Amino acid sequence: MQLTLCRTAFLTLCSLILVACSDDEPSTQQSEIVSTKSAPPSATRKHDFAQVSRGGKIFQANCAECHGKSAEGAANWRQINAQGKYPAPPLNGTGHAWHHPYKMLGHVIKNGSPGGQGDMPAWKEKLNDQQIMDVMEWFISKWPDQAYDAWYRMNQKAS
Ligand code: HEC
Repeated sequence: MQLTLCRTAFLTLCSLILVACSDDEPSTQQSEIVSTKSAPPSATRKHDFAQVSRGGKIFQANCAECHGKSAEGAANWRQINAQGKYPAPPLNGTGHAWHHPYKMLGHVIKNGSPGGQGDMPAWKEKLNDQQIMDVMEWFISKWPDQAYDAWYRMNQKAS
């Protein structure tokens, strides 16, 4: 299942790259996260305090019940549950969220588990793009520098 998710995510990424490669304005934060423009991070970490605190509130209200208050993930997140699905993984840098480019994370948050196969709900009806970017900024700000740097380099390749 985790493998399937990765493969699905990889294929999604490939199609995003095809769409995105004609565009190279990395710093543009536009309204549509999964559109042709990407909004990757900057090389030097700068997390806007106001955005991070807005994101933290959104996270506590909508995401913490599954991903944990500090985005530490469900205790047994690596094990398939009785329903054959994976519990919510950490988003604080100890899971593999940082293996996925910015746009793909935004895509999962908007649309939920790829193919509806997992238990991640879709948020596009409840959160707008700005709110999704805010909540991402919150959990990304928790990542260790090493994870952030690797993720940054991957985003450069993916955009
Ligand atoms: C009902 C429980 C639940 C809620 C609420 C929830 N999630 Fe999830 N989330 C999951 C599960 C379960 C997965 C694993 C999905 C899978 O296996 O397909 C997941 C996966 C993810 C991923 C992909 C992580 C990775 O390592 O690939 C991101 C990003 C994410 N969630 C963000 C959020 C955000 C942001 C919110 C709040 C707006 C949220 N989630 C709310 C259960 C939840």
